[in-house]
Amino acid sequence: MKTLLENKKFRKELKTEYKKNRKKFIIKICMGTSSICSGAKEIFKTFESEIKKNKISDTEIIPVGETGLNSLEPIAIIHEKGKDPIQYIQLTPAKIKKIIKQHIIEGNIVKEYLTN
Ligand code: FES
Repeated sequence: MKTLLENKKFRKELKTEYKKNRKKFIIKICMGTSSICSGAKEIFKTFESEIKKNKISDTEIIPVGETGLNSLEPIAIIHEKGKDPIQYIQLTPAKIKKIIKQHIIEGNIVKEYLTN
């Protein structure tokens, strides 16, 4: 059995290792039941195909559960290393193409697709 101190040390090591190895962009896509009904599967596949098509390597897509923004689905939250997360709402494949080009490739947030 590990002590509390050993567990704290282990958690700290995991966090350090995670931060060291994490990708520049992590795209979290809500795949809760309600999101799937709103088209989240197509959104997930569009992100995958656009990332592949544009040969973007330093990016990871992660399906996540309920985000609490059901009325704004489909939703993606983009975490860029060292910056605050950005929530894009009511996504469509066309919006994703613009997000990939403008945000992921050029580094400029697509403000018209954000929550207020
Ligand atoms: S299931 Fe996606 S925001 Fe509720």
